[in-house]
Formats: sequence, structure tokens, C-alpha cells
Amino acid sequence: MMGLPDWAVQAMSVLTQAFVLALGVLALIALVFFVIDRTQTSDAIRRNYPVVGRFRGLFTTLGEFFRQYFFAMDREELPFNRAEREWVYRSARGEGGTVPFGSTKPLTPVGTAIFANSAFPPLDDHAADTQALRIGPTAREPYDAPSFFNISGMSYGALSKPAVRALSRGAGKAGIWMNTGEGGLTEMHLDGGCDIVFQIGTAKYGVRDALGGFSEEKLREVAAIPQVKMFELKLSQGAKPGKGGILPAEKVTAEIAAIRGIPAGQASISPNRHPEVANTEDLLDMIAHLREVTGKPVGFKACIGAYGWLEELCLEIRKRGVDSAPDFFTIDSGDGGTGAAPMALMDNVGLPIRESLPIAVTILERHGLRGRIRIIASGKLLTPGSVAWALASGADFIQCGRGFMFSLGCIQAMKCHKNTCPTGVTTHDKRLQRGLVVAEKSEKVAHYANTVREHVEIIAHSCGVAEPRLLRRKHVRLVQANGRSIPMTAIDYMPPDESGPADLPAQD
Ligand SMILES: Cc1cc2nc3c(=O)[nH]c(=O)nc-3n(C[C@H](O)[C@H](O)[C@H](O)COP(=O)(O)O)c2cc1C
Ligand code: SF4
Repeated sequence: MMGLPDWAVQAMSVLTQAFVLALGVLALIALVFFVIDRTQTSDAIRRNYPVVGRFRGLFTTLGEFFRQYFFAMDREELPFNRAEREWVYRSARGEGGTVPFGSTKPLTPVGTAIFANSAFPPLDDHAADTQALRIGPTAREPYDAPSFFNISGMSYGALSKPAVRALSRGAGKAGIWMNTGEGGLTEMHLDGGCDIVFQIGTAKYGVRDALGGFSEEKLREVAAIPQVKMFELKLSQGAKPGKGGILPAEKVTAEIAAIRGIPAGQASISPNRHPEVANTEDLLDMIAHLREVTGKPVGFKACIGAYGWLEELCLEIRKRGVDSAPDFFTIDSGDGGTGAAPMALMDNVGLPIRESLPIAVTILERHGLRGRIRIIASGKLLTPGSVAWALASGADFIQCGRGFMFSLGCIQAMKCHKNTCPTGVTTHDKRLQRGLVVAEKSEKVAHYANTVREHVEIIAHSCGVAEPRLLRRKHVRLVQANGRSIPMTAIDYMPPDESGPADLPAQD
């Protein structure tokens, strides 16, 4: 070539040859893929459109990651939209829950809750601190729970070691309880000095004997730990009612297997229900037994679908005497979260908390048990508005799971069951856990809990009451199909034809 030095000519020639060679290799690979795609029988698109059909799978996978950054609107995604996630991230960073310009929340969808503000809200010096609320007045060691907002059950196994440790430390700093979930109690749970609610799942991990039944000895050992304040018997969880806990095989490490008393490397599948609890009578027997052995408040967790059994339970309590009542009832929403669950159950089974909470409260009120059985609500109650709604609807406490996962850095990548969580929250891969720095994240957990409480208080004051637990249904209005809102008190959550057997006189 004219004017070009020899070395440049040589370089261009080498580059051209390399380019031709690369093209040749690519063509060869494409040919191999073409033959494979054309002859395989499992994928129709690849069989009809060899090679190019493969890009569909690639784009679908990439779309999962990039949609939330480039395409989804602020209020669009599920299970949580960007506005909700960002609110948690900001709160967790200690930046408060204040935003500029105006709300992006659409207020017209049917069922949207709008709080009715008072014309004359209390002045700041009239606002009251929310007091501790006693759970289990008849237990040998009742629990005066300091906070209305707490951490829901998520097992060590579903969560990583640093995640559990950061939650424990954050809970300790914020003065809230942490529920163990069904994977048993570990040194990480106790690390932050927080109050612990020990959950007994259907496989009884942590308090299980060699045959998979209760070990009273282990129960007593757990109950003797001062940090353990209550026991929660898990009947069901909103994400998978009627199905026991699932920990996929790749997440059952040797350590987790030892804690649970199961073989390593095999999926940990809990039974669909406690074999000993087949009806409401068995449930009360079991609760009485656990309370007797542990001396601490005992309640149960369930997702409500059919609710005739709740009426039966109340009648049975009335028959046996009010002391036989569970000390609390955790109601989990049908759209609650999970480490792993069948989509068929997740998408289709169990009432959402917006419906089940007011129904349960109404049933307990009818039977005069509302004050005796404390209500704990869970399921997408992660922002001040939803927490305030639950308190106004009759909850005494809120347990939140995924809000706290966001405070740990979860980006909603939805890989919790695969041991490849990119933020270290739900993986046992040490390399990925490096991203979750316990000292830093525990601060975020505490900031988040404190900000939620502070902003629920702001809503309560705006409604004219001195503290969040004074919020009532009359403070909430729900948007109807015609675009107008009506007070929540106007809705009959238990029409007469759905009521249970005859009402009993109130005894609170
Ligand atoms: C990773 C993960 C693990 C969970 N593990 C348990 C468990 O062991 N026991 C249980 O009762 N619920 C478990 N849950 C459900 C939560 O406790 C909670 O009921 C549900 O997620 C709804 O609350 P949320 O919307 O605030 O997350 C788990 C949820 C998640 C996301
Ligand atoms: S980042 Fe993804 S995989 Fe990790 S906890 Fe969050 S949703 Fe699960």
C-alpha cells in the first residue's frame, strides 16, 4: 500500500487474517448451533428459527435484570415497586422519609387507603410515645413488647449468616424483636442482643427429637435463654399455605444441616402441617403444652383463606376459658414473601392482609377475645402508610420481612432460592457474602425501623391522635369503583350470612 510503512501493512494483513479467521470460527459455531437447534425437539422457537431463536432466552434473562433500571415506571413493578424500594433504601441510609415536589402514588385504584386528617392535629408536645404492649398475661414470663414494628420470621438458611447477624444487631439497636423463622436459633440471632421470637415450624427445627417430634429438653433449653421472649407455632405462611418450608438442596450446607438435624446437600422440606395439630382443639392443646413447658407467651402464625375454623377456635377458647387462648395470632398475607415456594400457591392461594386482617379482628371482637389475643400482621407492610393502615385495622404489631431485606441491600433480583443472591442476603456463597458488611448494614436495619415508626407517628398525628395505636378504622377511607372514598367503618367485613355460630358475650 502506497505511503504506509511496512510494519503497518503487515499489521493490517495480520488483522485481516484474524478477522477472517474469527468470522470463520463464528460461522462454524453458528453452523453447529444451527444443526443442534434444528434437530432438537424440546424448544419450538429454536427448531423453527435456529440460532436467532436463542436470543429470545438471552433477552428474557437480561430483561429480568435491566427492566427495573431502564423500563419500569416508579409505581409499576411487583412485588415491590421502585418508589417503595427507594423509600426503604433512603430510610435505611438515615436520610429520612422526606421527598420533593409531589406524590407519584396513584390515588384512584379501588381499595386505595386514604387517611382522614384532622383539622386540628395534636401539637408536637401533645404527641405521646407508643408504650410497650404486654403479650401473654397468663404466661409465667409475659412479654412487654416495646415496638409495634418488628422483623418477621426468615430462617437462617433462607438468609445468609451476615444477613442474620446484621438483622440481629440492627434489631438490638432499634429495640425491636427478631423472629427466627423456622430454621432454629443460632449464635447469629443472639449476636445483637435483640429480643427473639422463636418460631416452631412444622419440622420443628431447633427443638426436634430424633424422630422429628418435639424434644421437651431442647424446648426448655431454648426457653431458658433470656433473649427468647415468645414462641410462634407456624401453621402456615402466606406465600405457600398448605405447604411446609422449602430450603433447596444447594442451600443446605453442612452447618445448616447440623442446626436443623437433617442431611447436608438434600432439600429441606417441612411437612405440610404439624402432624399433632389436626384441628382447633389440637391447636389449643399444643399451645397450652408449649406455654407450660416454656413459661413464655405462645401464639401461632397462619395465612387466612377459609375462616370458619377461626370461629370454631374462639368457641373452643370460650368453652375452655379465656386463659387457654393463644397469646398472639400472626396473620400473614396471601402475597407474603418466601425464600422458595411453588408459584401455584404464591399466586393463587390465601387472602391478602387487606382483607384477612379486618376479618380476623372482627371475629375476635365478636367473641370478646380481641384484647386477650394480640394480633400481629405481616405481608407487604413495609412503608409507613401500610403499617399505619394495619394498626388502624386492628393489628397490635407488624412483622416485616422483605422491608428489612431491602434495608440489608436486597435489589429484588428474585434469585433467593438459587444460592446466587448478588447482594449476599440469601446466599451461602462466601464470595457473594463479602458484599454484605455487617457493621454497615446493621445501622441501616436500625435506621429503617426507626424511620418507619417515626413516619407512622406522623400519620397518626395528622389524623388527630396522639400515637399510632390510637388509629382506628374511622381514620381510614377506601377508594371505591366510582372514584369516591368511603370510611372503612362502612364496610362489613363479616356479613351476617358469613358469621359463625352464635355470638358469645364479650369478655375482655
Ligand atoms: C427469605 C424469606 C424467608 C422466609 N422464611 C420464613 C420462615 O422461615 N418462616 C415463616 O413463617 N415465614 C417465612 N417467611 C415469610 C415472612 O416471615 C413473612 O411472613 C412474609 O414475607 C410477609 O412479610 P413481608 O411482605 O414483610 O416480607 C420468609 C420470607 C422470606 C422473604
Ligand atoms: S437481591 Fe435478589 S436474590 Fe438477593 S435477597 Fe434480594 S430478591 Fe433475593
